[in-house]
Amino acid sequence: MSENILVAVAWPYANSLIHVGNLTGSYLPADIFARYQRLAGKQVIMVSGSDSHGTPVAVRADAEGVSPLEVYQRYHEGFLDLFMQLGLTYDLFTSTHTQNHFKVSQAIFLALLNNGYLYRESQKQWYSPQQKRFLPDRFVEGTCYICNYPDARGDQCDNCGSLLDATQLINPRSKIDGSPPELRETEHFYLDLSKLQPQIVDFLRQREGHWRANVLRQSLGQILASNLHGRAITRDLDWGIPAPIENWSGKCLYVWFEAVIGYLSAAIEWAQINGNPSAWYDWWYNPEARSYYFIGKDNIPFHAIIWPAQLIGAGEWFGKIFEKREAAQLTLPYDVPANEFMNLEGDKISGSRNWAIWGIDFLSRYDPDPLRFYLTANMPEAKDTDWDWEDFLRRNNDELVATWGNLANRVLSFAYRQWEGLVPEPGQLRPADQEILSTIENGFGIVAEHFERVRLRAALNEVMRLATEANRYIDQAAPWFEIKTDKDAAATTIYTALRVIDSLKVLFSPFVPFSSERLHTYLGYSKPLFGEQFLDTIQDSLGEHKVLRYRAGEASGRWQPSQLPAGQRLLQPAPLFKKLDESIIEQERARLGQPG
Ligand code: MF3
Ligand code: ZN
Repeated sequence: MSENILVAVAWPYANSLIHVGNLTGSYLPADIFARYQRLAGKQVIMVSGSDSHGTPVAVRADAEGVSPLEVYQRYHEGFLDLFMQLGLTYDLFTSTHTQNHFKVSQAIFLALLNNGYLYRESQKQWYSPQQKRFLPDRFVEGTCYICNYPDARGDQCDNCGSLLDATQLINPRSKIDGSPPELRETEHFYLDLSKLQPQIVDFLRQREGHWRANVLRQSLGQILASNLHGRAITRDLDWGIPAPIENWSGKCLYVWFEAVIGYLSAAIEWAQINGNPSAWYDWWYNPEARSYYFIGKDNIPFHAIIWPAQLIGAGEWFGKIFEKREAAQLTLPYDVPANEFMNLEGDKISGSRNWAIWGIDFLSRYDPDPLRFYLTANMPEAKDTDWDWEDFLRRNNDELVATWGNLANRVLSFAYRQWEGLVPEPGQLRPADQEILSTIENGFGIVAEHFERVRLRAALNEVMRLATEANRYIDQAAPWFEIKTDKDAAATTIYTALRVIDSLKVLFSPFVPFSSERLHTYLGYSKPLFGEQFLDTIQDSLGEHKVLRYRAGEASGRWQPSQLPAGQRLLQPAPLFKKLDESIIEQERARLGQPG
């Protein structure tokens, strides 16, 4: 089993707010997975950043009359705030607008060029006479020439999932103002995907056994059905990374081409910031390292086909260009556990109609753990799911509060009151005590198995099932009655129950880390379970940029049953979760679709 795990998380566009669908699609499962792997003793780095370039940011800046830099920075700072509050433990959350990322992206481009995987060609591209700019593929909509879906985007059809050639769209219209664009001639570099196809197919075949069916369908399935063709990887745009070609100004690297390179450049930046500039080799020049890409289903072709193609094509030349030294092949994705979408109260989430629950707005009224819990219980791992406020309330009150929170609180308060704030000394363990302890102990293996396969819903279900077992144990033993006749028997029960909740705390912690940390202190531990998130500012030739970082704590190797010693001093406990009032259902539903 590999010790080095790269948790690669989708890079949010720095031109819109993050909603619950984005969170459950990629950012949250990545954090849950990373926290588990750290507890399991693996060397984890979790990296991402703001996807700050490209026309979406430039167009919004135009509309607001500010610079693209300003737009990117504003959204970027919002992301940092949200991820901090939600406890998303990025080892580094940076952005694509850094000197390091420019350098790494240009080196990948030049390595591909050196290896003969790029070619230059004039192409026709949609140009908006109104806007006086070339329209990127995403900004042209029209009818899909494969399946006839009327609202296909130029780059990709959300109906049939195909990557499209934008110039072939039927009845094209500009997404910015609806006007019809015209085709104009322009020269670009292309990634020669047909030349790389055999290697990509090999790569995908090696992963057939463990990838999700939808991801394989949209990668291997697509290629076998329709073969790969060259794709332009430069654009006529000035907000982005200049193509590293002399006498070729006004051209940038295509935003998708460079954004995925962020997984590599962020690991490099992380190593530099930590004062160990070659530390990233353990993840990126290590065939044993495993990289997991947490993305939404709309991103599958870019991560399962094009990014591997870039890595294969750059080959060992990346190291020669970037570091002037012989280097190994960069590590290819191990898994791309893409999620489907989450809808909201039966309807597609839509920012423009404000049919959305924005992360930061939610956290102004509720705690982070209930959100993390609900988004995991309802995570769209295999099919689209739906956020329903009534379901949210029910799961919060019946599962989080009643099954888990009350169990922990009942046991702790009783122990604290009856044994002077100390973990009681048990007598000989009885069969029922041994049975619940071994059920929980086995649970660690079962839950770990789900985690290894990135089945987070199943993992959480199993932990909840164990909490239900623990409730059954305590109800049957009934220490509150036991104590009246036999205080020693009650001590044995409470000692057992404390060990059970101490274990459940660990099992729950990747999902609901804030409450697990609190419970951890109530149980008398002084060092936190996980490390610490913090904000930092980095200075480079492009200016200052803010980043989110993580200082690893004690989490390493804690994925094991409780060893809670008798006699440990407890802290005065308090309830872990809040019961929510029925009235929020209607209040929250009334907010949906209202202007911002
Ligand atoms: N910004 C894009 C999105 O949110 C792409 C994310 S992944 C990247 O859909 F690696 F390509 F940036
Ligand atoms: Zn289509």
